[in-house]
Amino acid sequence: MTQGPKSLHLDGPLLLVGAGKMGSAMLSGWLAAGLDPKAVLVQEPHAAPEAMALCRAHGVSLAAHHNPGAAPAVIVMAVKPQVMGEVFPAVAALAGPGTITLSIAAGKTIASFAAHLPPGSAIVRAMPNTPAAIGRGMTVLCANALTTPAQRTLCANLLAAVGETGWIEDEALMDAVTAVSGSGPAYVFLLAEAMTQAGISAGLDADLASRLARSTISGSGALLDQSELDAATLRHNVTSPGGTTAAALSVLMADDGLPRLLSRAVDAAVARSKTLS
Ligand SMILES: NC(=O)c1ccc[n+]([C@@H]2O[C@H](COP(=O)([O-])OP(=O)(O)OC[C@H]3O[C@@H](n4cnc5c(N)ncnc54)[C@H](OP(=O)(O)O)[C@@H]3O)[C@@H](O)[C@H]2O)c1
Repeated sequence: MTQGPKSLHLDGPLLLVGAGKMGSAMLSGWLAAGLDPKAVLVQEPHAAPEAMALCRAHGVSLAAHHNPGAAPAVIVMAVKPQVMGEVFPAVAALAGPGTITLSIAAGKTIASFAAHLPPGSAIVRAMPNTPAAIGRGMTVLCANALTTPAQRTLCANLLAAVGETGWIEDEALMDAVTAVSGSGPAYVFLLAEAMTQAGISAGLDADLASRLARSTISGSGALLDQSELDAATLRHNVTSPGGTTAAALSVLMADDGLPRLLSRAVDAAVARSKTLS
């Protein structure tokens, strides 16, 4: 695993297709990491005011369509999966022999991009998650066999600009990645909602219960992030035998408790991810 930002060097233009939530977060991270704004072309027909302002502030070229004179060094596909089939063929026509296509679209396989690209094209599929919006994402990447080591490094560095990165070699594992880190932020948000509700049921007013839940989750996340201890050890360290935490954990860790429930939730997400792709 690596933590960004990393230096970014391009041998040609970077074409970013889609400057929505994730596209803009990445663009912002790349610019902060020192990517030359003149090397970036953003294709986005309906840019939000924030994306427009970001491009304007850095002098990044933003247009509904781009046709760079030279083949892009990298094409980053950040449109919704459901419009990919409509958008990608025209973008693929811009690729040259040295272009790497990097997609962050959920469920879109490497083969689905290869079908539109010249034989021999390098393709990397990546799955980021929502905390990328604040530079704290977790992205897992998977490259086809035609991707060179330099292209792998470039793709990893592009995603390291919005958080942590890791690689898988077997694309089939992308369903499990999607189920754990891609969908994972929603599980944590649900935990915050459930803790708030439980606090209200225990007599706290809604505002205080919400603050306690939010702050406990973000503080514990930061502690987990900064500590050298693993999660189980941190949990043991705050659990006195016979105490209040132990009483709660005896419920959460019962046979039908949280570990079992999360395992079922992840299995459901894996199954859905397989169906969608
Ligand atoms: N958000 C996440 O947490 C997350 C996590 C993992 C993966 N992803 C993946 O990231 C991708 C982008 O997601 P997002 O949340 O950033 O979605 P989003 O905010 O809807 O951004 C997609 C952007 O692409 C634009 N677009 C549509 N047609 C286009 C075209 N022909 N050329 C260029 N841009 C076009 C959309 O414009 P309009 O709105 O006008 O259509 C929109 O601004 C998706 O494939 C998603 O699976 C997102």
